[in-house]
Amino acid sequence: METVYSLEALRHTIVGWRRTGARIAIVPTMGNLHAGHISLLERARLLADRTVVSIFVNPIQFGKGEDYARYPSTLDADKEKLAEAGLDLLFAPNLGELYPGGIEEDTRITVPGLSTILCGQYRPGHFSGVATVVAKLFINVQPDVALFGEKDYQQVLIVKRMVHDLLMPVEIIGMPIIREADGLAMSSRNAYLKPDERERASKIFASLNAAATKLGQQTQSLIAIETAAMAELAAAGFRPEYFSIRRAADLTVPQLEDRSLQILVAAWLGGARLIDNVRVELSTPLAML
Ligand code: PAF
Repeated sequence: METVYSLEALRHTIVGWRRTGARIAIVPTMGNLHAGHISLLERARLLADRTVVSIFVNPIQFGKGEDYARYPSTLDADKEKLAEAGLDLLFAPNLGELYPGGIEEDTRITVPGLSTILCGQYRPGHFSGVATVVAKLFINVQPDVALFGEKDYQQVLIVKRMVHDLLMPVEIIGMPIIREADGLAMSSRNAYLKPDERERASKIFASLNAAATKLGQQTQSLIAIETAAMAELAAAGFRPEYFSIRRAADLTVPQLEDRSLQILVAAWLGGARLIDNVRVELSTPLAML
């Protein structure tokens, strides 16, 4: 595995690959890698001849008071995992490499609409930060395909929309959530959970499954299902931000006759903000809102 820290070295390797006609995949990450990231890499290696993983904790996608300063950095352990998984190239730039003019006045990419709902409502500017850094990576790696985990379902849709609108020739693939044995979605932020919180954390996935079952039965309104889930999470010690049933395709509010729905949740447990989601494919069209 080659590791590069500068854009110059990155471009040098990419140009060499391109000359051989190689198909290139990228898996953008913020490091502190877990099995979810490795599943993206494994899939990338099947889809492309060469794979790049980036590790960069992107300051502009964190709001004031969020966890940028304490985001876990585990570069040596990450390198070992990536080498073991057969990665070709790790790109681990520092801040100045990706933001040569600093982060205050930097050009931003904003995907309208999708960026201001759900997580975007609670984390203003977050998705603009994500779109901007992902665009910088795409411009320099020029990948044929890029893989993202669907735990960040809204992020996947936003990256897809950005690529579509900016005419970037990159295929975006959302990959299934990888879960711990008790159902908790794997996330670098799970490390913030204290032992007793970690024990309760699987409740978030349980709440999604309970809501999915109710949705399938179509005996309760969407708002009733959402409100009950928020109350259950609050009673279990979570501080839920939203619990929302949306159209899977674009996260707009469901309409009668819809079938493909996504249930999404964001909730704080102690010092960890957890997000999760499940897909629900209704066997009969939605008959009640
Ligand atoms: O999902 C993440 O880890 C980040 O949002 C990403 C896509 C690497 C951009 O910084």
